Amino acid sequence: MYINNNILMESNTKVWIKKENLWFSGIIMSKINEQVLVKFDHNKKTELIDNFSNIKLKNQNDDNINDLMNLQHLNEPSMLNALSSRYKKNTIYTYTGPILIAINPFKNLEIYDDSNIKNFNNNQIEYPHLYGVISKVYDNIRQCKGNQSVLISGNSGSGKTFSTRYIMKYLSKVSSNFDTNENTVERKLLESNPILEAFGNAKTLMNDNSSRFGKYIKIFFDDESKIIGANIETYLLEKIRLINQKNGERNFHIFYLILSGMSNIDKQKYKLTKMDDYSILNHSNCYVREDGVNDQEQYEELIQSFHIMNFTETDIENIFSIISAILHLGNIVIKDNQIIDNFSLKCVSEILSIEYVDLKRCFLQKKITVNEETFIKSLKDIESYNVITTMIKVIYENLFNWIVKRINKNFIKTDYKQFIGLLDIFGFEVFYKNNFEQICINYANESLQQQFNKYILKNEQKLYEEEQIEWDFIDFPDNKECLKLFELKSHGLLSKFDEECLFPNGNDNALYDKICKYSETRDSLNITNMERIDKLFTIEHYPGKVTYNIHGFVSKNKDILNSCAVKCLFKSNNNIFKTFDKKLLLSLTTLSSISISKQFQNQLKDLLQTINQTIPHYIRCLKPNDKNKPDTFQNNQIIDQLKYSGVLEAIKISRYGYPIRMTHEDFNDKYYMLFDKVDFDNKQLISILKNGDLKIDIEKYQVGITKIFLKKDDYEEIELIRKILFNKSATIIQKIFKGWKIRNWYINYKKLVIISQKYVRGYLARQRVKKIRRNLASIKIQSLFRGYIVRKNYRNTIKLIIFIQKRVRRKIQRKRYIDNCKNYCANIIQSVWKMYIVRKQYLKYRQSIITIQCNIKIFQAKNLLIKLRKEKYHIDNLKDKNNVLQKNLDSLQENYVKQQTYINLMKMKMKQRERENFQKDENLRLENEQNVEKMEDILYKNFELGNIINDYKQNEEKNNQLLGEATSQNHEDAETKILLAIKINELLLKHNAAMEELERMRHNNNISIFDFIKHFFQ
Ligand SMILES: Nc1ncnc2c1ncn2[C@@H]1O[C@H](COP(=O)(O)OP(=O)(O)OP(=O)(O)O)[C@@H](O)[C@H]1O
Ligand SMILES: [Mg+2]
Repeated sequence: MYINNNILMESNTKVWIKKENLWFSGIIMSKINEQVLVKFDHNKKTELIDNFSNIKLKNQNDDNINDLMNLQHLNEPSMLNALSSRYKKNTIYTYTGPILIAINPFKNLEIYDDSNIKNFNNNQIEYPHLYGVISKVYDNIRQCKGNQSVLISGNSGSGKTFSTRYIMKYLSKVSSNFDTNENTVERKLLESNPILEAFGNAKTLMNDNSSRFGKYIKIFFDDESKIIGANIETYLLEKIRLINQKNGERNFHIFYLILSGMSNIDKQKYKLTKMDDYSILNHSNCYVREDGVNDQEQYEELIQSFHIMNFTETDIENIFSIISAILHLGNIVIKDNQIIDNFSLKCVSEILSIEYVDLKRCFLQKKITVNEETFIKSLKDIESYNVITTMIKVIYENLFNWIVKRINKNFIKTDYKQFIGLLDIFGFEVFYKNNFEQICINYANESLQQQFNKYILKNEQKLYEEEQIEWDFIDFPDNKECLKLFELKSHGLLSKFDEECLFPNGNDNALYDKICKYSETRDSLNITNMERIDKLFTIEHYPGKVTYNIHGFVSKNKDILNSCAVKCLFKSNNNIFKTFDKKLLLSLTTLSSISISKQFQNQLKDLLQTINQTIPHYIRCLKPNDKNKPDTFQNNQIIDQLKYSGVLEAIKISRYGYPIRMTHEDFNDKYYMLFDKVDFDNKQLISILKNGDLKIDIEKYQVGITKIFLKKDDYEEIELIRKILFNKSATIIQKIFKGWKIRNWYINYKKLVIISQKYVRGYLARQRVKKIRRNLASIKIQSLFRGYIVRKNYRNTIKLIIFIQKRVRRKIQRKRYIDNCKNYCANIIQSVWKMYIVRKQYLKYRQSIITIQCNIKIFQAKNLLIKLRKEKYHIDNLKDKNNVLQKNLDSLQENYVKQQTYINLMKMKMKQRERENFQKDENLRLENEQNVEKMEDILYKNFELGNIINDYKQNEEKNNQLLGEATSQNHEDAETKILLAIKINELLLKHNAAMEELERMRHNNNISIFDFIKHFFQ
């Protein structure tokens, strides 16, 4: 065992090992020369470590530790391990002595609801929680223990404002018995938040709702511990944000709220347009929040809060006028002492009801008084720009203060009995480039840290007194030196800042020279040669060194308007301007004015005085990562913040006195081996300890009423002795145990050997008998088996022969049958084949005959067709002749009509002759009558022939068609056509014969054609 750098280094000790700035758990294997061999838990690799500051003792159990002070080994990795394992389980709160550490979860946890408030209020919950702290604070109020303060600090985005809001909610709920309607003080207290946040918060790279001011809210309670009023005090509003924001950051929320929430009519009233039209909003290229909060909804909430906080319509109008005027002021551009584009200036003049000329004058000219004579001088462009920016800053700051005052007016402050002060203030800031704002903030943190140190020390000393132990003054790490650097009268940094502002020509360079000189006398102010070139200086703050850049210190510290501009503002109709503090507005050259640093120092002094008169409670908010992500815990971020928030300092202080304290019971349980007696009670323990009857010789332990206090060295020493004694005892126990174990083993082993020999021999004999029996049995089995095999073979052979015979016979029979079948099939095939051949031949012959027949018929038909055509030609001739006859007939008929008349005449004559030749002609008449009868017959026949000819004519076309078809259907129709042609021919012959007969008869009877026709028609 060996001690190095206060670490008890024994083999198998669990430790934390630092490698590449990360802590890994492992165990100590051994010590080799001046190095320690360690084995890492995560990869089981071993490594030699020579730098012992990279090794820290590991606790048996870091998880579920509610108070880090209870960690046996309170070192950096153990704290980180404890905090991160709790954070993983969403346990974001942990105590470190009197400080509550709150790690921002960046997600909603169900731990702030009314039931939780009730449980904490009824003291039913013990674990670390914001409500645990505030319930203790409220209990103190209930028990009239005096004024209380809750000091909440931490980096930007760590959750200070969030915690303050929940504390206010807790107090409002418990004070009003969970009945917060619109008119209660509690409700008004909560409604002040949206107003303050609209005007004092802005989106930064660290936090979308970052408070750009510090605040101390005093909540007043009456005799019955009910809230009766409140008072809000604000610190260091970040005015520079009005003019300049980093890329991705926004100006104060109010500008965006108005531009997104206001109706168009209202916007016209204030001559407002859209966000990117205003230069104080548009150069950072960021207009919307990324945390999901909607500016329009926030505007509605703001108006509602204004009403609840009794702001009149005129108040609200005046506020919006000033905000709009600031937007327009930012747009004014001056070049060569001329205002470019008068629109913005006109808007400002109209909105604020200030004469345009007055405003223009104060931006372009300044009055200089020398020997009681006043001169007017034109301003350079840069000077004009400074006037505008200063006016913006001054107006906004005063408006903000006015709003805070107006909120405070809502609350009664007299007749209160006690108060709880909530301080939500920026934590220690270290950036790449640190300016005037950072030095003020860090100075405030130094002052608060000293107050914190004193309080912790006071608590320590109070504990010693309560425990009635002897104690001397505790020397604790102090930041007095750093505070002196700031506060020394007439020499301190703050005086120097102030002094430089008083000179009309005061500037950053002159101030830097003074600081350089001052650095020679102060240890905590250092300037290296390199820093001189860049005008930098370094201050040793309690968490570490911070380097500041002197640029802009004087102008930022002044921020005072010239008298011309101040007069201008006071001329405005806007009532808010009339409430502005003239002293704060006027030039620093007047004695009544005061610099920013001085104002802040005074405010801080008042604040510290107030806090000192209260019982303080500390909440340190930590940001687990810089991406604002849930469930992400970055060790280096946390350790830096623990340093900056003074938690490590607090631990140091408590470790400076008697850092190790244990109740008597715990001490007895842990260190009973250090006493001669083993069994004794607490009283005996105290007397033993007080009489110095310890086995060991340690000097600086103290025995209190309930606890034993130890210095760290003594604790290490008795821990070492405890370990040595433990080791010694362990060795003896191990020796006896090992001897007993081996003896027991030997006896048992011997017994086992004898028993096993017995069993083995019995087993072998049984095996032998078994073998002989098995041989005899096997011979018998063999003979039976062989007989069986031979019989079986014989039976199989017989079976096989029969089987073969059966197969052969079957084969022969099958062959015969197949031959028969083949013959039969051959016959059928032959017959079919022969039939096929004959049929084929027959079909071939038939086809040939048909072809020949067809050819002959075609030939005959062709001949017939030719003949028919010839006949047709002949018929056509006949037709023509017939036509001629017809024509003749027609002319005959005509002649007939002519001769009819002639016949009638002749009839007359004939009647006459009849009478004369009656007798003579009687015979002739009879003969004539016979001839007429014959002629009638012939005429009738001729008439029939005429009909036939007509029919023929009608059928002629059909015949033509038939003739055409006859060529195709020659075979079928040929005969019919021929018959028809013959018939026609016959008819024509008959017709001709009849005509000839008629002619002959006419000729025989010697009758003229006219007589004939006359006779015929009688
Ligand atoms: N306890 C919590 N539970 C859930 N979210 C939280 C909690 N605390 C803080 N947050 C989240 O972190 C964000 C930043 O918190 P908050 O505004 O309180 O930081 P801050 O310390 O006041 O920062 P700044 O100094 O910039 O004003 C909140 O908007 C919220 O989303
Ligand atoms: Mg905040």
